[in-house]
Amino acid sequence: MNSCVVGLQWGDEGKGKLVDILAEDSDIVVRYSGGSNAGHTVVIGDKRFALHLLPSGSVRPDTICVITSAVVVDPEVLIKEIEGLAEKGVTLDGRLFISENAHVVLDYHKKEDQLREESLGKNKLGTTVRGIGPCYADKVGRSYAVRMGDLRDLGQLKAKLREIIEYKNKVLSAVYSAEPIRADEIFDKCRSYAERLLPHVTDTTEYLHGSIAAGRSILFEGAQGSLLDLDHGTFPYVTSSNSSSLGMPAGCGVPAKMVDRYIGVAKAYTTRVGAGPFPAEQDNEIGQYIRDKGHEYGTTTGRPRRCGWFDAVAVSYSAKISAIDSIALMHLDTLSGLKELKICRAYNISGEEKTFFPANVDRLSQASPVYETVPGWDEEITEVSDYDELPLHARDYVRMIEEMTDTPIAMIGVGPARSQTIFR
Ligand code: GDP
Ligand code: IMO
Ligand code: MG
Repeated sequence: MNSCVVGLQWGDEGKGKLVDILAEDSDIVVRYSGGSNAGHTVVIGDKRFALHLLPSGSVRPDTICVITSAVVVDPEVLIKEIEGLAEKGVTLDGRLFISENAHVVLDYHKKEDQLREESLGKNKLGTTVRGIGPCYADKVGRSYAVRMGDLRDLGQLKAKLREIIEYKNKVLSAVYSAEPIRADEIFDKCRSYAERLLPHVTDTTEYLHGSIAAGRSILFEGAQGSLLDLDHGTFPYVTSSNSSSLGMPAGCGVPAKMVDRYIGVAKAYTTRVGAGPFPAEQDNEIGQYIRDKGHEYGTTTGRPRRCGWFDAVAVSYSAKISAIDSIALMHLDTLSGLKELKICRAYNISGEEKTFFPANVDRLSQASPVYETVPGWDEEITEVSDYDELPLHARDYVRMIEEMTDTPIAMIGVGPARSQTIFR
């Protein structure tokens, strides 16, 4: 059984928790898109892991971890993460494979990201400033790209970096009057990255196809959320990769039909970090209640997340483009204590009621949400393990989301721990 887990909102839906649970029955967990902009949380007992590049299966000592070619790898972050796990007694030796074709995020990408965001002022995108956009831009541009396999030939890499950095310095100085970047410093870092990471660098496409032929079970771990997809999200307020499940085949060279089930992860409400339209946003005491109760602060940047009601229009759209078979609805516990809840079931755009999400910010910015209001529940549900033990209004809320998204809800999160999950 091969599965793919993908976010159905604007990221941070609880993918890390779900992947950690499903990894128990998987031989291999694969990250196929994005980079260290992702922050996936796994909570095991009193230990909390925040993973940015390593697949969330990495905390299980026997799970093979694969980072494929469409991931942009920041070696500094990855090495820190490997060392962090080692400190907690978890080693990646012999079970981490990184694609030789994955592009490398270097210091100048992070600098470009930061300078561009600063220069945009109020029009900034609110990126994670992890160099993601600039690295993907170099990948698409091809001439100034560095890939993990380039670390194998340091002589050639030195010459290449000199050329790239000469170009980068011209641009950074002309556009931002920035201090020049030192090619020798970047090269020295690359030498240490090579020493540390090359044992893990390989042809991951060959590895994955061999594993499929051998009947191993693979779990593909999406990063970000479908609404942040470069081509199908809320452009330009998106990330620079295909973060819906559409990015999976291209991201790792494994056809979509090799996946037996696509599981979408959504919160029982909506959050977003960074700029961009968010029709069901509650920039008020409701949003603050959700933020406080759900600890809605970014795993990567610590920024407060924008919070709002569950948006069935958005999630239905994501479920369609990401081929979702079932939904894992996380953070139901966070809604306990609210007198009434709203679910956005349609948008009113220029007097017309629409239920198909417009992935176009001009139209989306004009959308006013049409809500269904339902009664809330007072009981805390963090200890509930059986669906039938949930308060009646909580079950009604789940059923209504199922109906509006036309997708079964197979799992419900009632807390951050592995055990706080209801399976139906
Ligand atoms: P990801 O990026 O999709 O992996 O999600 P993040 O880890 O960035 O954010 C999700 C946060 O919610 C993390 O702090 C999780 O530990 C936490 N979490 C996940 N599921 C639940 C849940 O059902 N209830 C509560 N209260 N917290 C949850
Ligand atoms: P996980 O995997 C939430 C958002 C940023 C910004 C936009 C572009 O943890 O769900 P980028 O740095 O990618 O150029 O930023 O995308 N973003 C995320 N938001 N969760 C994420 O990842 C995100 N990765 C990027 O906040 O709005
Ligand atoms: Mg996250």
